[in-house]
Amino acid sequence: MTRRVLTGIQPTGTPHLGNLLGAIRPALALAESGLEAMYFIADYHALTTIHDRERLARHTREVAATWLAFGLDPERVLFYRQSDIPEIFELAWVLACHASKSWLDRAHAHKAAVAAGAEEIGLGLFLYPLLMAADILAFDTDLVPVGRDQVQHIEIARDIAQRFNHEHGPDLLKPPNALVDDGCSANVPGIDGRKMSKSYGNTLPLFAPAKQLRKLVGQIVTDSSPPEAPKDPDTSLVHQIYRAVASPDEARALADRLRAGIGWGDAKQTLFERLDAELAAPRERYAHLMTDPVALDALLAAGAAKARPMARAVLDRVRRAIGID
Ligand code: ADP
Ligand code: TRP
Repeated sequence: MTRRVLTGIQPTGTPHLGNLLGAIRPALALAESGLEAMYFIADYHALTTIHDRERLARHTREVAATWLAFGLDPERVLFYRQSDIPEIFELAWVLACHASKSWLDRAHAHKAAVAAGAEEIGLGLFLYPLLMAADILAFDTDLVPVGRDQVQHIEIARDIAQRFNHEHGPDLLKPPNALVDDGCSANVPGIDGRKMSKSYGNTLPLFAPAKQLRKLVGQIVTDSSPPEAPKDPDTSLVHQIYRAVASPDEARALADRLRAGIGWGDAKQTLFERLDAELAAPRERYAHLMTDPVALDALLAAGAAKARPMARAVLDRVRRAIGID
């Protein structure tokens, strides 16, 4: 049987180059590799932080248009909004009744909020891994591609599935496996040298107009060596970002030019041109998709219409097992 891969995308902000190289590209490549792929917009997860109707709706469409602009084919990948599948939320309650609070006590999402000084933890944030387990288990998922930080959540989903099966019968819920990409693309630095992240405000946004992109590339931190001085590509932030987007041959060529001594302005121009070449076509497709929100919503609704019966079948199986049918 074809193995099923599923992942959720949080609609929490304007997508950046790190998201493209660390999440979007690898997930689209996986969908091309013979697995059955299901990618969804985790809008109810975003509700743990976004309480603004305009923003939540806008980010949901932005994320959908981003994935489509970079080539997600809704004929081949089931693409839907989490909130369109009510079965997930019913399953989440059943799962809650088969999970221990101590499993969630260990989850880092709310621990990070406490470490950052939060005095009160919202229940949504605390229950976040439980909803994620429902996202996964509702579709008999085999593989979940995630960043390292999310592996813990997949383990919680496994624990819940195993406890449920132990109590109610074997093979009722499928314990999933995490698929972690530790490739070099998994950590794209931002223009200040820290990990590129919207929370640091150091991103290269995917759909910024060329002029703004050029300005941001110009702000990438460099040392103050003069133009003719030889430069070490390995310690150069411009080269680290270039390497993440360019081919190995292109990366070698820029490395050679830096070692021979070119000005940072020239190196940045090379990076800008490479980025602009990469992003120009998706930028146009994105702009086009965003002009028609009704069509975008319809596309996601069509994905949900295909996904829902699958979750329904799992939920029916679960309800029968617990005596609610
Ligand atoms: P941010 O750090 O901007 O808030 P998210 O946490 O929303 O980004 O990440 C969404 C996806 O993009 C995750 O799969 C994450 O692993 C990936 N990602 C985010 N930033 C980077 C980065 N700098 N390099 C590689 N992948 C990244
Ligand atoms: N928590 C994930 C993240 O922050 C998003 C997510 C929600 C998810 N549900 C999921 C990922 C189910 C994989 C499977 O990136």
